[in-house]
Amino acid sequence: MLSTPENSPYQQVLSDLRETRHHWLITGVAGFVGSNLLETLLKLGQRVTGLDNLMTGYRANLAQVRAVVPASGWANFDFIEGDIRCLDSCRRACQGVDVVLHQAALGSVGRSIADPILTSDVNLIGFLNVLVAARDARVRRVVYAASSATYGDHPDLPKVEEHIGRPLSPYALTKHVNEVYAEMFARCYALDAIGLRYFNVFGPRQDPRGEYAAVIPQWFYAMIHNHPLRINGDGDSSRDFCFVDNVVQANLLASLVDDPAAVNQVYNVAVNARTSLNQLYAMMHALLVGRFAHLEAYQPEYGAFRVGDVRHSQADISKAARLLGYQPTHRLEQGLQEALDWYVAHLGKRS
Ligand SMILES: NC(=O)c1ccc[n+]([C@@H]2O[C@H](COP(=O)([O-])OP(=O)(O)OC[C@H]3O[C@@H](n4cnc5c(N)ncnc54)[C@H](O)[C@@H]3O)[C@@H](O)[C@H]2O)c1
Repeated sequence: MLSTPENSPYQQVLSDLRETRHHWLITGVAGFVGSNLLETLLKLGQRVTGLDNLMTGYRANLAQVRAVVPASGWANFDFIEGDIRCLDSCRRACQGVDVVLHQAALGSVGRSIADPILTSDVNLIGFLNVLVAARDARVRRVVYAASSATYGDHPDLPKVEEHIGRPLSPYALTKHVNEVYAEMFARCYALDAIGLRYFNVFGPRQDPRGEYAAVIPQWFYAMIHNHPLRINGDGDSSRDFCFVDNVVQANLLASLVDDPAAVNQVYNVAVNARTSLNQLYAMMHALLVGRFAHLEAYQPEYGAFRVGDVRHSQADISKAARLLGYQPTHRLEQGLQEALDWYVAHLGKRS
């Protein structure tokens, strides 16, 4: 694990939150990132409203959170099953809220290429509804999930927030437009918003199912069940894989930062490391091979590159470090190691 000094900005935020209770709205609360935010906030004694239409999220994720937080923490949570495309649901969810952590969206480049209208409907109209509802409810701050997909075809590595290219998919376009909307809302309505460009997040409760699943849970699932595992392209494509605890940290820092220079900005959230898909496969295989004998002779298959995928991705995280005090606690290896028992326990079941 990377070191987190006792007096780091994140430790300070955690100790402030143990003292002071805020009311949070997490949209997409039943999803992967949303349920991890929920777990952290409830453990800190915070009050949380969650909004989700369960399109790609699961009640089972909420049940897993319930199992690990004290009963008194769970009592501070209200779940609204609703759609961000419905302004009334967003207004109801924003009532009395101090901070919105907006995670609800349709992820996946591939899904957006297959159905650009659905992705745009959720990610653009839904986003606009959340901003309008937050503005009218006088929410103090909106922190929203942006994406590294916004870098599109820009060749620079590592990626610096100010230099973006052309979008390579409808998903990337929606995530960029979210940033433009948030910036405009700051100017027109004085709404405080911060965008966090997540890079390939992984960790417990990430969905392994379906053709749009992210690579890490999909590969763990395939390896555990001895199913074929396909690497898209030659395996030299690389990513800055970011453990979900780092993402939770960035959200809490962004929610509570006071410095006006830090607000109405977008930030990269990752580790500033690059791992190829071949390296990732080797790490995951090494972690599992001692537990599953069938993996001794297991080999990945190689397929075509996917349309819309960028070749390499790596974040410059100096802006988040400077203005938010962000210091990732987990590199890829530590995140995989920490989540391994969860992967084996939960992905080992047939679904
Ligand atoms: N996971 C990553 O690697 C990654 C990378 C970059 C950005 N992001 C962004 O982070 C956010 C969270 O992603 P995730 O990986 O947790 O995905 P997820 O699919 O697990 O979670 C998204 C949640 O939003 C809900 N949702 C979808 N449409 C909705 C709607 N119309 N109304 C209400 N709820 C709706 C889903 O049911 C789900 O619970 C998304 O905005 C995503 O675009 C994720």
